[in-house]
Amino acid sequence: MPHFVLAPSILSADFLNLGSQLAACQSAGADWIHVDVMDGDFVPNITMGPVVVEACRRAVDLPLDVHLMIQHPERHVEAFAQAGASLLSVHVENHPHVYRTLQQIKALGCQAGVVLNPGTPAEMIRPVLPLVDLVLVMTVNPGFSGQRFLPEVLPKVREVRRLMDDANSKAWLQVDGGINAETLPPARQAGATAFVAASAVFGHPQGPAAGIQTLRDLLR
Ligand code: DX5
Ligand code: ZN
Repeated sequence: MPHFVLAPSILSADFLNLGSQLAACQSAGADWIHVDVMDGDFVPNITMGPVVVEACRRAVDLPLDVHLMIQHPERHVEAFAQAGASLLSVHVENHPHVYRTLQQIKALGCQAGVVLNPGTPAEMIRPVLPLVDLVLVMTVNPGFSGQRFLPEVLPKVREVRRLMDDANSKAWLQVDGGINAETLPPARQAGATAFVAASAVFGHPQGPAAGIQTLRDLLR
């Protein structure tokens, strides 16, 4: 297992050339592929569903890290697992039975992640920490790629790091939103071990492989 995980988010990919872009990410050293699933209800944007996860599964061998920004994620986790998701992350804000949904994800044979929006306190992860393989602290308000990193979330990243260390959790601490060459180092400093980036990878002027390379160099 790598020490740090770099997960390009396909939200900013060129969907006409998704297969070749994912292959370029894999060759350049991406660890996982991050898939942002949005329903136009929990977040103000509609993106993709299991059919896209299934296409990514055929394009690369990398683990597929599926971030569910949808209402009633418990109704859809099975479809995403069948489509080839390796890890399924659900938010704490939008359903009362997050513990059960995380158990359901594990029972489907996937890794499970829990996600906190910028306005949600770190404390919310405490009861589910023993269940999760990943904690995702959003560093933008979820919905769109290309937003500015919120530096005011960094104290929460540090707090989550402390909670995880106190619980002896070996889960990944992921950050997602506005991650680029300037914001990755302070996020890493705060204790993050997994980094999602959409625009910094797929919007890189020299293409996604150069985008991966730039971020990867900062994690050496
Ligand atoms: C935001 C998504 C992110 C997004 C990141 O709602 O969860 O994964 O794609 O995009 P960038 O890296 O451009 O901020
Ligand atoms: Zn995401």
